Amino acid sequence: MRRSIGRTGGAVVSSSLNEVVALAPLDALPPDSLHACDAPVDGENEPLILYRDPQGEVRAWRNVCPHAGRRLDFAPGRFLRSKAGELVCAVHGATFALPQGNCVAGPCRGDCLRAVPVHVAEGEVRLGDAG
Ligand code: FES
Repeated sequence: MRRSIGRTGGAVVSSSLNEVVALAPLDALPPDSLHACDAPVDGENEPLILYRDPQGEVRAWRNVCPHAGRRLDFAPGRFLRSKAGELVCAVHGATFALPQGNCVAGPCRGDCLRAVPVHVAEGEVRLGDAG
């Protein structure tokens, strides 16, 4: 079975072990870009951040700030970046290094975004490790 996951707000249902969960077409993520989507993680529909680094590798984290548990984007899929290219939480300004996802400044300095495994196959970003 296969499911496609749209941008934030799209309908998401739980996944089974054999289910392919497509998060986004790879073409939707230019190098050094951030993208938001929802996906079933540990049985819950979770907002995610996808980041494609300048070398083309894609990473994902839960879209939950370790400071106060809020989403990092100021509108669905709209993220703040520092002049140095770091990801900045829109709520209180915690600043996260990319591609590592660790907080380097702000109220949760030293904490990290929670990583979610993703891989790229057949031109799309998929949930989970490559199998
Ligand atoms: S919720 Fe992100 S910095 Fe406070």
